[in-house]
Amino acid sequence: MSSKILVTGGLGFIGSHTVVALQEKGHEVVIIDNLSNSSIDVLAGITKITQKTPVFENIDLRNKNEVKEFFEKYPDIEGVIHFAASKAVGESVENPLLYYENNLSSLIYLLQELQQKESAYFIFSSSCTVYGQADELPITENAPVKKAESPYGNTKQIGEEIITDTAKINKNFKAISLRYFNPIGAHPSAEIGELPIGTPQNLIPFITQTAIGKRKELSVFGDDYPTPDGTCIRDYIHVIDLAKAHVVALERLQKNREKSNFEVFNLGTGKGSSVLEVINSFERSTGEKLPYKIVGRREGDIVAAYADTQKANKELGWKTEKHLDEALKSAWEWQKEVVKREENN
Ligand code: WQD
Repeated sequence: MSSKILVTGGLGFIGSHTVVALQEKGHEVVIIDNLSNSSIDVLAGITKITQKTPVFENIDLRNKNEVKEFFEKYPDIEGVIHFAASKAVGESVENPLLYYENNLSSLIYLLQELQQKESAYFIFSSSCTVYGQADELPITENAPVKKAESPYGNTKQIGEEIITDTAKINKNFKAISLRYFNPIGAHPSAEIGELPIGTPQNLIPFITQTAIGKRKELSVFGDDYPTPDGTCIRDYIHVIDLAKAHVVALERLQKNREKSNFEVFNLGTGKGSSVLEVINSFERSTGEKLPYKIVGRREGDIVAAYADTQKANKELGWKTEKHLDEALKSAWEWQKEVVKREENN
């Protein structure tokens, strides 16, 4: 059943891949993006892949009136997939109010419009960061949500609480929160991918920028952790698998298959990989040598996190299909495409 879906942050990394997946399943997409952390070129990338250009509105969700006017202009929006948010952990520590204002006011203004509608569904982009360092691995959805290590993580926790309370008093409002582990990779067409602005904070874009010569070497933040090779362990999930999970979650709500009007799912591969394992996988899958050095630990890093995927497998009928090597290879192909475009501009 196709429908008109609003995707906020739809020109971003995960948003753009989800727009492609939605269009491929016949859904009509409207994108809101304020281009603060994305490029308008992504719209052309999406169109090249699906031959369909989504409707695009350059709106800042912190502007309550603009949000209200948007829903008056598009009264037939049935559901929202909400990606638009600031997401750099380190930046959130330096500038907490920017994160609380951007991530929470935009969420509140969207929910205020949705609760006016006859019925509406809402998919929230959350993160495994809400678990902090979990006591048990793999991490299930019942793992306790711990005091966030950063304002960024706190906005995800508070965001889920806001949605929970909204769902409690609006029986026609149904929501799913998707807690991502570590999204990586790019579309196999190399038409869209991750576009970090400035120095990449995350591991994979730093690896690909190092391999292409844009960075001198990768700094591995610590090899003295209590893990088999001493480096931190994460659950790296291909962005294509992640995008598909959003379509499955949306269709779950459309077909009223939800068990309650607020559900949470962990989205990961279920497998943990250390930083050194990622480096080895990158070199094996691309044939590129990666210069790196071991440095001190990064403040706030947890030792290990990887998902227990049983709930998403069983309830969503979804599981990851792509592996680490393929994700890293796709990130490398995308990195080469980005450099080619920079050289042509
Ligand atoms: C992964 C591992 C680093 C860079 C964060 C957020 C999460 C999500 C993804 C938004 C860690 C190590 C990294 C480098 C390194 N964000 N590393 N050298 O911190 O697990 O998760 O980003 O959705 O919510 O919490 O991801 O890629 O920054 O780090 O050694 O130059 O790579 O220490 O062990 P992280 P990351």
